[in-house]
Amino acid sequence: RIAQLHGRRVWDSRGRPTVEVEVRLEDGAIGRAIAPAGASTGQGEVLDLRDGGSRFGGLDVHRAVGSVNDEIAPALLALDATDQEVVDRLLVDLDGTPDRSRLGGNAIVATSMAILHAIAKSAGVPLWQHLSGGRPVRIPLPEIQIFGGGAHADRRVDVQDFMVVCPAAGSFSEALDWTAEIYLAAGSLMRRAGKAQGVADEGGFWPAFDSNEEALETLTRAIETAGFAPAAQVGISLDVAASQFGSGGRYTLALDDRTLDTAALVDMLGGWIEQYPILSVEDPVGEDDHEGMVEFTSRYGHRCQVIGDDYLVTNAKRVEAAATDGAANAVLVKPNQAGTVTEAFQALRAGKEAGFGTIVSARSGESEDVTIAHLSVGWDAGQLKVGSFTRSERMAKWNEVLRIEESLGDSAEFSGWSAFTFPGS
Ligand code: PGA
Ligand code: ZN
Repeated sequence: RIAQLHGRRVWDSRGRPTVEVEVRLEDGAIGRAIAPAGASTGQGEVLDLRDGGSRFGGLDVHRAVGSVNDEIAPALLALDATDQEVVDRLLVDLDGTPDRSRLGGNAIVATSMAILHAIAKSAGVPLWQHLSGGRPVRIPLPEIQIFGGGAHADRRVDVQDFMVVCPAAGSFSEALDWTAEIYLAAGSLMRRAGKAQGVADEGGFWPAFDSNEEALETLTRAIETAGFAPAAQVGISLDVAASQFGSGGRYTLALDDRTLDTAALVDMLGGWIEQYPILSVEDPVGEDDHEGMVEFTSRYGHRCQVIGDDYLVTNAKRVEAAATDGAANAVLVKPNQAGTVTEAFQALRAGKEAGFGTIVSARSGESEDVTIAHLSVGWDAGQLKVGSFTRSERMAKWNEVLRIEESLGDSAEFSGWSAFTFPGS
């Protein structure tokens, strides 16, 4: 039973306030979790409740923390906390709005994740193991950002994330080793060309490239310089996050001041897929561009992973519809988009049932909280996206997966190529 539940204000990786929830069960088990926050959020996400006004740019969270302490805590006190689904349903009903705008999605997701931790602690098993319930799991393939862009780097380039994936590595630990070499190689290539300008929101290089293609060229060269075979060993994964530069089928590229319609954007991305070792593309067109998602998936979904993030917003119903329409072949799973742990799991399960790839993902605003590392393993997601290979709010997650992999010893199975479900993989 829940003996105590407490919300407090803490700070995230962008120096913004966020909500932490700590819960204690009657047996003494304690669970704690911190809500992350997005910058390029999808329209269909649950609402991140902020105070408004002028303090901290309107982003303070006293109202959300108040929701935890004044409403959620009294409602959950003495509740039997053994069933996550029951707790999450109660949280959703208590809020009563479809978008969690009354109590705040941030208050609710932090509570849901804190309770998950407490239940696992009470059971005396690591969180990932509590989630897997004895079913076989794989250690996820990491998707790791090398350059930031889009909303995370003042639109220095249009594409938001230039990432690498190392599916040919023999283990998670080896995939990180390979990424470290590529990160190093990319850094020296950029410095030599005078293109490194600092660090973007998720810790990747803030690039001074003149085009998206220059970023792709540099990343491909970094993979080769580090000694890996592009595509055969290491691939590029892009989060285009196209909603950030267009809607209604009209897209405006910042770098060359061009406006493209959906067909032209799909053609441009398709040209990149032909030319560079791209294995995965997220949100290739805007979240409202259903036809564009279908067109892109039908043209390239056989040879590349097509992920819906803003397009699917971790919503099981949207995943089912996308599967029916052929509008993606993979789903990004962000607990704070869905609202609760249970709802995030339902979206992941819908993805698996549709034969989609599944990727558990962090947000651009993060913290030392490592819950998602455990979700990615315990739910056997196959992939984990956390941002770059620098800064401790990112490394905390990679390092947690290293610990899990080590704890499994010889029985650890790295997902590698099995992470991808598209036909050509
Ligand atoms: P966000 O970006 O957390 O700023 O929404 C991450 C993503 O788009 O995948
Ligand atoms: Zn995204």
